Amino acid sequence: MKKVNVNLNSYPYSILIGRGIFSNLQEIINENKLHKNIFCLIDKSVYSIYKKDLEKVFTPPPGKFNFLTIDAKEGNKSLSTLKKIYTSLVVSNYGRDSLLIAIGGGIIGDVGGFAAATYTRGIRYIQIPSTLLSAVDSSVGGKTGINFGSTKNIVGSFYQPNLVIIDINFLSTLPKREIISGVGEILKYAFLIKGDYFEYFEKNLDKLISLDENVLTKIITESVEYKAAVVVKDEKEESGIRKILNLGHTFAHAIEVEHGHRLKHGETVIIGLACSLYLSNKLNLLKETELTEGIDLIKKLSSNIKIKKMDYKKILELMKRDKKSKDEVYKFVLLNGFGKVLIDVEAENNDVLWALKQGVKLFS
Ligand SMILES: NC(=O)c1ccc[n+]([C@@H]2O[C@H](COP(=O)([O-])OP(=O)(O)OC[C@H]3O[C@@H](n4cnc5c(N)ncnc54)[C@H](O)[C@@H]3O)[C@@H](O)[C@H]2O)c1
Repeated sequence: MKKVNVNLNSYPYSILIGRGIFSNLQEIINENKLHKNIFCLIDKSVYSIYKKDLEKVFTPPPGKFNFLTIDAKEGNKSLSTLKKIYTSLVVSNYGRDSLLIAIGGGIIGDVGGFAAATYTRGIRYIQIPSTLLSAVDSSVGGKTGINFGSTKNIVGSFYQPNLVIIDINFLSTLPKREIISGVGEILKYAFLIKGDYFEYFEKNLDKLISLDENVLTKIITESVEYKAAVVVKDEKEESGIRKILNLGHTFAHAIEVEHGHRLKHGETVIIGLACSLYLSNKLNLLKETELTEGIDLIKKLSSNIKIKKMDYKKILELMKRDKKSKDEVYKFVLLNGFGKVLIDVEAENNDVLWALKQGVKLFS
């Protein structure tokens, strides 16, 4: 089992990575001296696939035990889901000595984390990511929240988990589309980290997609190590350092909304990364050779992503309204070279539109 420590001053915690470690959940809870009154929030599909394993792990439960299954749809990252969670907690008399365990992908993790952050002003919680995307990204870093109206993640809080347990066994039942979506965030790290990580990713992309255990473990471990190091430097995205993790995301969020959430988050991140590379090059930040290398890598993934015709005008509007662009101008995280990130780069309408069209073209 691998262990990565997130050394936050206020709230240090560990990320455990391994195959089959979920079966030791009760021991892990004991070792970490966490509360024994457990409320579990479980992705409905994960529950139906892993029902027997879940029952085994929680039988007998260490204390009070209840669970709620949630259909992992973007529309369920909502106030009404929160209401269901709070109601279940209140009805079963859960107090501050409770432990919420979120088992699922980013949807369950985000809404579960926000419920933990707010119920009785904060209860302990464990993230158990069951998708590749949540393993390498959303389960780490403490961003929790829900969507409101048509705006993604607009209500939420920074609230760190007490533990993240990544059992790669869960990933074996992921549909290919979900694997590619997770690869989207890994591709982002490849551009951010450069060097050995980039080369390993480039060389082992096929093995990663086929969930080779060694490749998966190495990539997940190094991804969370990187993310943890960034989060420790800027837990609440105040100094700007953490913004680098939004590479590709201004385009991605707008495309996700424009497509009515029919594309997966990580799929739009791949498209957004392509657009960001083109924009970085257009603004004379990224060399032609790096643009070509990056786009060649993206082309290896593009046939997996199906997009419908895009409403470019709407995407541009959405990007201006992105919560990361407070001043109603386009602001991007761009690359000044692989591994060299710039934040809050302003860009003109024509250049943004050009980069958007070039990026999208790869997927048409
Ligand atoms: N908090 C953060 O820092 C952060 C970062 C990135 C993304 N996100 C959020 O994460 C969400 C996307 O999360 P996601 O891509 O992890 O997935 P998801 O939660 O949307 O789940 C994707 C699909 O996979 C299914 N699934 C989950 N685990 C499975 C398994 N083991 N086997 C088979 N099927 C399984 C789910 O039922 C669902 O149909 C978005 O809402 C996004 O905004 C949050």
